[in-house]
Amino acid sequence: MRSFVKTKTAIALALTVTAGAAQADGHGGVEVLHWWTSGGEAAALNVLKEDLEGQGIGWTDMPVAGGGGEQAMTVLRARVTAGNAPTAVQGLGFDIIDWAKQGALANLNDVAAAEGWDAVVPAALQQFAKVDGQWVSAPVNVHSTNWVWANKAVLDANGIAAPETWDDFAAALEKLAAAGVTPIAHGGQAWQDATVFDAVAMSTLGPDGYKAAFIDLDAEALGSDAMIEAFKRMDVIRANVDDNFSGRDWNLATAMVINGEAGFQMMGDWAKGEFLNAGKVPGEDFLCFRFPGTQEQVTFNADQFMMFDQGGAVSSQQAALASAILSPSFQSAFNVVKGSVPARTDVSNEAFDACGKQGMADLAAAAGSGNLFGSMAHGHANDAAVKNAMYDVITAHFNGEYDAETAVMELVDAVEIAQ
Ligand code: GAL
Repeated sequence: MRSFVKTKTAIALALTVTAGAAQADGHGGVEVLHWWTSGGEAAALNVLKEDLEGQGIGWTDMPVAGGGGEQAMTVLRARVTAGNAPTAVQGLGFDIIDWAKQGALANLNDVAAAEGWDAVVPAALQQFAKVDGQWVSAPVNVHSTNWVWANKAVLDANGIAAPETWDDFAAALEKLAAAGVTPIAHGGQAWQDATVFDAVAMSTLGPDGYKAAFIDLDAEALGSDAMIEAFKRMDVIRANVDDNFSGRDWNLATAMVINGEAGFQMMGDWAKGEFLNAGKVPGEDFLCFRFPGTQEQVTFNADQFMMFDQGGAVSSQQAALASAILSPSFQSAFNVVKGSVPARTDVSNEAFDACGKQGMADLAAAAGSGNLFGSMAHGHANDAAVKNAMYDVITAHFNGEYDAETAVMELVDAVEIAQ
């Protein structure tokens, strides 16, 4: 019932906005659907809005709150069904490929060729931005999910260094709990539980196991003892969140670490944008480090803007938006604020802080050593049906419906059914 109401509301919302948007778009602007509604995300988005307004291109904003973009994708489907797709839409990985295969996206080949995207956008992103040789979206950034964010003063007060191994991490959690500090700030939403699982699974299965399970959907890997261990580690994490974690938005969990209420948050590097938006400095106020046991890997998700076909060739506004997104100056200015790293390999790291510089170095190293993997939680390992099947099992386990052994059996079955 809940999902029906959600969809009905989404359609109503979409149809209400349509009239306004169509009118705004008729004045040569762009209507952009996205889910960047937190403080840090909005600050980053303003960089793009101002860039376009500087080119005389008006921006009709269509924000749809809900981390990870599930709600935004529901509204998008309603808008497309109503025959009035937005000009541009934030999208992730396999969702982009799905829309392209439905013939819904404009061809960006001309702007891509004119600006040499093929030479500067990493292959890992082109895998999702080009479908059947056609550029269908403009990559904005590269985020990664296997990060931990820590309040430095809280760790210092408890004699805790950035943990290198799972055992170090578990010991740090025990210390914080004994000191009466919430060890882990978390938001109990399926996409957040899955984001944590990205890192825990990588640390437990290792890169080959992660690839076999989440990218290749190998039943043996999905049902392995290592996967049972991953769910047992999720039990430890569940035991170290506060009582009010359920339903909390991700940026409110980040705020708990920012203000010292909690020691750690396991979240993608969009969390860094919240620290910066709060005026915090890496190395002084907070620490950023790879989840223990995943220091050599990167589980990535790239935000891209899909240009929806408006009934003809790509519009001049869509081409201008795509060009603005891939410009080196924008790539630096936006990603410095967003917490992500540039979507092109020729952008200097000069403007980036220590966490950003580490993110850029980690991405290059992982790409070079075969340790760069699409995030399962953020639609870069498999399509939405498989991703959502995994979400259901991971969040059911996190909420105590399954023990680790049962969760693994449910995971194997759910993935088999979803394919
Ligand atoms: C991710 C997206 C990020 C950020 C995050 C939280 O899927 O790539 O840009 O929006 O969700 O909502």
